[in-house]
Amino acid sequence: MKLTEVLNQVQNQNKALLAANFYNLETCKGIVKASSKLNQPIILQLTPGSISYMGLKTAVSIARNVPIEENALTYLHLDHCNDIVLVKSCLDEGFDSIMIDASDKNIDDNILITRQVVKLAESYKVNVEAELGYVPKPNNEIENDKFTEPADVKRFTEETGITSLAIAIGSKHGFYKGEPKLDIVRLKEIRKITNAYLVLHGASGIPADILREAISNGITKVNVATDTKDLFMKSLKDIMKNSDDIDLRNVFPLAINEIQKMIEQKIKIVSMID
Ligand code: 13P
Repeated sequence: MKLTEVLNQVQNQNKALLAANFYNLETCKGIVKASSKLNQPIILQLTPGSISYMGLKTAVSIARNVPIEENALTYLHLDHCNDIVLVKSCLDEGFDSIMIDASDKNIDDNILITRQVVKLAESYKVNVEAELGYVPKPNNEIENDKFTEPADVKRFTEETGITSLAIAIGSKHGFYKGEPKLDIVRLKEIRKITNAYLVLHGASGIPADILREAISNGITKVNVATDTKDLFMKSLKDIMKNSDDIDLRNVFPLAINEIQKMIEQKIKIVSMID
């Protein structure tokens, strides 16, 4: 089944698909093992930074082969890309989905750039995500005046032809300072305007009940990255406090297991499994 069909299915069920960023073989394994154990599809995400770290062919090979060995249904997505050349390389590598992120531009330029990428991706028949409004990056703070304006949504989706829309409704990338708050009224308004699959970025650190409220009101794709990086490194630090084992093949599986458990929890939240 194509990713857009799965997104359509979960949207109709008022559920969401988890999209988890991975950084190496180990984080990929943890994520994929969780998906396999619960028998739920998952989106594996690569940022340009992770692609540059692993190398495109290596990263794709990990994302394709780990799910085969773990017997899981996964899709591969390019996250937060502003480089059209890299978008094309990922399309040629068979990615199921790509994000063009021109959210730091004004709406006219955002439309122009996004439309160009939609056109480029047309013949590949993949999911294309763009961001309207601005979801703060880890070093930025939340600013209400950068939330997605419902009034812009119709024009943006119609003029670009995207299939998925990342919206700014109060989430942010990285760690939250206080309790995250999402603007559910705004989300409901946006959902009424478009059938594009609405994407919540910055889901790390958002409590389960708030995530579920967002999903019940129209979020179809939930992105998690920081929780994986944070947990992987914390687990390694904890393990090494009481161990001087130099055999990383004994150490890494313990951290993989922690990632698996955390991702299982997230899959249960977004799939409305109790
Ligand atoms: P977090 O790093 O806050 O989980 O955000 C992930 C994300 O939105 C990736 O696109």
